[in-house]
Amino acid sequence: MPSPKMKIPMLKLVDQHAPLRARILSEIDRLLQTGQFVLGEPVAAFEERVAAYLGVRHAIGVASGTDALMLAFRSAGVGPGDEVITPPFSFFAISEAIELVGAEVVFADLREGTYLMDPDRAMEAVTERTRAIVPVHLYGHPMDLAPLKRALDDRAQSAKNANTAKSIAVIEDAAQAFGASHRGTKVGALGDLATFSFYPTKNLGGCGDGGLITTDDDDHAAEIRMLRDHGQTEKYVHGSFGWNSRLDAIQAVILSAKLDHIDEWNDGRRRVAAQYRALLADLPAGLPPAGDNSVSVYHQFAMRVPDRDSLMAYLAEAGIASALHYPRCLHQQPAYQRSFGSFPVAERTAAEVLCLPIYPELTEDEVSYIAETIRDWFHETKGDAQSSRQENRSWGER
Ligand SMILES: Cc1ncc(COP(=O)(O)O)c(C=O)c1O
Repeated sequence: MPSPKMKIPMLKLVDQHAPLRARILSEIDRLLQTGQFVLGEPVAAFEERVAAYLGVRHAIGVASGTDALMLAFRSAGVGPGDEVITPPFSFFAISEAIELVGAEVVFADLREGTYLMDPDRAMEAVTERTRAIVPVHLYGHPMDLAPLKRALDDRAQSAKNANTAKSIAVIEDAAQAFGASHRGTKVGALGDLATFSFYPTKNLGGCGDGGLITTDDDDHAAEIRMLRDHGQTEKYVHGSFGWNSRLDAIQAVILSAKLDHIDEWNDGRRRVAAQYRALLADLPAGLPPAGDNSVSVYHQFAMRVPDRDSLMAYLAEAGIASALHYPRCLHQQPAYQRSFGSFPVAERTAAEVLCLPIYPELTEDEVSYIAETIRDWFHETKGDAQSSRQENRSWGER
């Protein structure tokens, strides 16, 4: 059993904020003097900066990532009788938002070795009732949406020829992937709509809850702006039943301050990921995908190890935190009172996944210590890692 040489938490939010403290406090002081606490100029300024950063026409701040999903569904016309396709291995908020708008969830399994939805499985799940597909850029890894969009375009074309056209919106869940890109396009600009979360633990996180929707479509944007503020078209004139989902000005100024550092922080996460890869590559464990055309922001560094509970306990003994994102698939949640069948890749992933600490403040020595401890565990439980290399090579084919 290891004895702790270092204490390494899953996150160091206090360290992240320390260099920004003076700026954030002075922004908040300025707000106190203006009395502008909800929406207003600070939120509009933040939205404009995010839209420019992500390369989209519209960015609309809302109260959380969950609200962002719900409002994106509303603006895409998703409602009772409709189906929404999404992977079964992600965060429960997607299920909740689908239920909130009265639609039905349909799950499509992951593609092995990617942690991301398999576009072929998604297309197989499409029916006449499908109104939206929600790919999730899980762990900060951007999903290539091109094959999915091509397949949807082909389907739309044949439906048009048969006069049965019904559009299917692609709504990216980019909650964990602010700044990630695929072939040079940032996530948030890949689908018809996209949603982000600024929950404090996200790679761009506020000091409280917050969320955002992006789109290039002027009509969707106008509708979401109305829906987030009680469906008001003008003061006390309510054009539809909306919601109270306004981004607080205090979060907008904090997020604006942090936006200045996002590239440097995402680089820091990639630096840690590269070091993990170099030190763990020969072990019989699954490592995150490293796509040629993808730039991940490594919201998580997720390994796959069949007896991960034992590794987790071993790391804890050594003073190293690790986490299970997520130990149970969405279709297996008790909230669902029905059976969805099985999704073998997602289920195996939930049983084997283990997330290691990853944040820009993590030092090279800390990463080395974590990797060394993992290697010790493999050595103690599996013997010579050398003999297991064969296993690792075939990981992606399992
Ligand atoms: C993939 C994913 N989608 C949606 C959400 C919901 O975001 P929020 O917590 O801001 O409501 C989260 C946040 O944890 C998430 O990780």
